[in-house]
Amino acid sequence: MTNEVSLYFDSQVHAYENLNKNLIWKKIKKNEIEALIPKKFIFKNKKVLDLGCGNGIYTNLIFQGGAELIDCVDISSKMLESLVSNSSNNSNSNSNSNSKTKIRTFCTQIENFKPDIKYDVMILSGSFEFLKHHQNVLNLISTYMQPGGLLLILAPRKNFLGGLYYLFHLYHGIRVKLFSIKELKKMALKSDFCIDKVENIFPFALVMHLKKCENQNTLYE
Ligand SMILES: C[S@@+](CC[C@H](N)C(=O)[O-])C[C@H]1O[C@@H](n2cnc3c(N)ncnc32)[C@H](O)[C@@H]1O
Repeated sequence: MTNEVSLYFDSQVHAYENLNKNLIWKKIKKNEIEALIPKKFIFKNKKVLDLGCGNGIYTNLIFQGGAELIDCVDISSKMLESLVSNSSNNSNSNSNSNSKTKIRTFCTQIENFKPDIKYDVMILSGSFEFLKHHQNVLNLISTYMQPGGLLLILAPRKNFLGGLYYLFHLYHGIRVKLFSIKELKKMALKSDFCIDKVENIFPFALVMHLKKCENQNTLYE
């Protein structure tokens, strides 16, 4: 299915670039971004990993937040090309409090990515649902994280509109996973992340903030 996913997203680059003109989409995205990224300073001088970065909506925010390094991983080479051209435009026009921000791109599956460093912050937005073995991926990416580092997840949830999102992708031959808060919490509890926050976001998303911790997770048992 990864081939279907990369072919689908390769074909969607122009549609994604035009999404910003859609007012409903902009409103939904604004809600999601506010819930996922409470404050831009969390990126200041940090090493950040954007998993399933697409054309770089979050990469741009991380850049504006003054990250030291942003590693962007995606299975779609066309999305990464679009990200590179957007980020060179953005670096000319957007203020960034860290003039030395470095951006690297990796065209590979999230499941196969082998980083050469550990990260302070990781973002998994809009890509977790396309993966197969969610618990394994969570366990794997926790090994890339500095102790105390933050993982920000945005995923579709099990409700009526989430169901339409599922059917939309099924029509393109892709089976996505919808999540409930209970399932995400269960996965987090089986990993070595601690849950900082988990909430439903209108209209069909879930946001979870996880912190890499050494101790057993007791917050949400
Ligand atoms: C819905 S877009 C989200 C883009 C961006 N993160 C956002 O939130 O706007 C999902 C992205 O995840 C990528 N993706 C899906 N499955 C992947 C996988 N197994 N490995 C790497 N990238 C993947 C797709 O190519 C696509 O660019």
